[in-house]
Amino acid sequence: MAINIKTEREIRLMRESCRRLADVFQNLEEAVRPGISTMEINILGDQLIRKHGCIPNFLHYHGYPASICVSVNDEVVHGVPRKKRILQEGDIVSLDAGLIYQGYHSDMARTFGVGRISPEAQQLIDATKQSFFEGIKKAKAGNHLHEISNAVAAYIAPFGYGIVRDLVGHGIGTHLHEDPQIPNFAQTRRGPRLRAGMTICVEPMINMGAAEVEWLDDDWTVVTEDGSWSAHYENTILITDSEPEILTLCE
Ligand code: MF3
Ligand code: CO
Repeated sequence: MAINIKTEREIRLMRESCRRLADVFQNLEEAVRPGISTMEINILGDQLIRKHGCIPNFLHYHGYPASICVSVNDEVVHGVPRKKRILQEGDIVSLDAGLIYQGYHSDMARTFGVGRISPEAQQLIDATKQSFFEGIKKAKAGNHLHEISNAVAAYIAPFGYGIVRDLVGHGIGTHLHEDPQIPNFAQTRRGPRLRAGMTICVEPMINMGAAEVEWLDDDWTVVTEDGSWSAHYENTILITDSEPEILTLCE
């Protein structure tokens, strides 16, 4: 397994790619409200990415038909935007987007509430986000990769939520998906050693119910098998000798 170590120049480009993506996300968050269709969110996101002079990296990726993944309620990830899928008060919606800036990819995801949402849904969103931050406490040079996975899993365990196992985080750089894979569930092996200059995406996907997921007939949209709601939280981060740098953080 070859894990790329980025040069200073590459790190600068990664930072800029991620900064632009975070900016896109701020605008997308403001657009999330009852009455908007998932297709409108996709079109807006596509326009924002291009306005920054960047290329949406999800569009046509292994045939994916849109620039933004929009996943509602029991949809976990890779929701395919549709004109007729209208967000309603109380829904939760996961947006996942990425772009290419001068050859360098960025990737991030957030779950937002649509209008007022239930306390249970809010807790799912908050726990998913916090599990990312627990995971990256272990993301420093010299540690082993799976310390991140184990920290995410340990934080989620007391909630009784299902941690999605079929999809994982990943390295990122001149490709959207590079080595290594980054699971969000407990690992028995410790995985490769982290080194300064690695850029990776940590992205817990957490279900209110069981961990099992299935694919819809569109071959993309991943839903929970039991119909329970799901949240997603992802940032592109840079491994350093001390704290990781969260390249896509915009809040
Ligand atoms: N953002 C996803 C990931 O984190 C990739 C989505 S690829 C697409 O790995 F084709 F579905 F858009
Ligand atoms: Co990703």
